[in-house]
Amino acid sequence: MIHRFPALDSTNVKARELAVEGAPVGTAVLAERQTAGRGRGDHRWHSPSGGVYLSVLLEPARGRPLTDLVFLGGVAMARTVRECLPPSIPVSVKWPNDCLVSGKKVGGVLGEAVGEARPGLGVLGLGLNVTTPRAELEPFRENAFSATALTVEAGGPFDVAVLGERLAEATWELARRYAADGFLAIQRLWERHCLFLGKRIRFAADGDAAGPMLGTCLGIDDDGALVVSTPEGERRRFHSGELLQCYW
Ligand code: BTN
Repeated sequence: MIHRFPALDSTNVKARELAVEGAPVGTAVLAERQTAGRGRGDHRWHSPSGGVYLSVLLEPARGRPLTDLVFLGGVAMARTVRECLPPSIPVSVKWPNDCLVSGKKVGGVLGEAVGEARPGLGVLGLGLNVTTPRAELEPFRENAFSATALTVEAGGPFDVAVLGERLAEATWELARRYAADGFLAIQRLWERHCLFLGKRIRFAADGDAAGPMLGTCLGIDDDGALVVSTPEGERRRFHSGELLQCYW
């Protein structure tokens, strides 16, 4: 079921409230705008009209981390965006939680635990800039992947409400796939939607005093860690950090 609102502080907050009241797995919340949209880390998610703001209640499989849902959400968004753009416009997931169009960030995904009231349940939040005016797009943390919107990259027309429904449907479909086949199915799909595979990247690992490193992106492992081959031929895995640039 989709609960629709003209405005909310955050669809993730609303979805969590519904979860605490007993809403079933799969419940979705859509808002036309958010006044306190939440982004990854301490960042806010600027949420004017013209974007899709969606949250879905989902459960990671038994013993699996919440980050499974983040990759599931990234694939759902990349699929939805891929289907509404001409094939000549590149669409990619970006580790761990972004969706890129023509190398710029068009959307992001945030996974949060519901908490004690419903242990094991997560809120998967998806934000997608659709007709968001250029002036409303914020610079994206000073790296190469500046923010964009579908209309900026592809003209349109796009129907924000229809895209919101399609994104919810893509998320539900992948959640069924995940429940049946596990994270491996999501991992494979994520890699299929990742245009960085085999490309040279610059990556900043959290807490690495040596600073950003160069390497070749090999994909993600079965825990969602980014796998990078270093210039020395070492295979390294990263659970946190930021992909700063890709040398296409
Ligand atoms: C990121 O930092 O890239 C993740 C952004 C996630 C934003 C979405 S919009 C819908 C949902 N509600 C929120 O408050 N945040 C997520």
